[in-house]
Amino acid sequence: WMRFAPFIREINRVKVEKDAVILAHNYMTPEIFHGVSDVAGDSLQLAIEATKVAQQTIIQCGVHFMAETSKILNPAKTVLIPDSRAGCSLASSITAADIAKMRAEYPGAQVVSYVNTTAEVKAASDICCTSSNALAIVEAQPGDTVIMTPDGYLAQNIAAQSTKRVAYWQGACIVHEQFTAEELRAYRESYPGIAVIAHPECPPSVVAEADFTGSTAGMIQWVKTNRPPKVVMVTECSMASNVAAEVPETDFVQPCNICPHMKRISLENILWALHSGTEEVTVADEYMEPARRAVERMIEVTN
Ligand code: 13P
Ligand code: SF4
Repeated sequence: WMRFAPFIREINRVKVEKDAVILAHNYMTPEIFHGVSDVAGDSLQLAIEATKVAQQTIIQCGVHFMAETSKILNPAKTVLIPDSRAGCSLASSITAADIAKMRAEYPGAQVVSYVNTTAEVKAASDICCTSSNALAIVEAQPGDTVIMTPDGYLAQNIAAQSTKRVAYWQGACIVHEQFTAEELRAYRESYPGIAVIAHPECPPSVVAEADFTGSTAGMIQWVKTNRPPKVVMVTECSMASNVAAEVPETDFVQPCNICPHMKRISLENILWALHSGTEEVTVADEYMEPARRAVERMIEVTN
């Protein structure tokens, strides 16, 4: 923290001077999450908060699709991402042409796309969802069959709880697809009584072994509410570090997997973004309206 302190002070000074707000995803490192963010949360919370910010500039500390969502919801504001190479294996797994193919295969089915998609794909979808509202969104759709893209595991996990038939795309998150049921059983053997909580981007066999499954915000809330003596958070590494400070009595068992995209964001490039006004995130005019409709429909169903 000694090493981070000058950056944290400077970022917090410059963001006020530049009328900027810092929105940070729960996978940001602790010095970003605790040190400089104005709002930290899961994908749904960040999308909702993006509709409420007063500042003229949004610094999106997260990956590119999150910055695009903020821009879609705030066309008149400047949205900056500290490193535009921060992508996502889910967002890059599907195009609007793929959505059209799925629509042709399942005529009449509504397309529910995870927010982990490009603006182009959101624009081609009927409604978005996040990991915290996916079941409610799927259930709210008309018809017997719903198309879910692009996360195949999230879709299978939702299908297991849903009354709908769920047709899905086979994308996966490079962080969560790596976890295995054997690994979770090994934690339980090594640490009797350990709480095992998982993100729904994990394979169904992993989710089946978990005591709780939820979005990143849901997982943090579960730990804060239940305060288990020992827990393994089956998700990205920074989650345990970020919540550990607030739950000192809980022992967090690692390992976890790192998202290399999320880890592109650092205090150094946040400060650079503030000073230089780069890298600005833009969304093509043709996608703005239809993508906003898909995100706003999601927020309406959720509220
Ligand atoms: P949530 O924070 O919405 O659970 O999403 C997790 C994730 O992997 C975002 O990239
Ligand atoms: Fe995408 Fe997975 Fe990284 Fe989230 S953790 S940004 S879903 S690759």
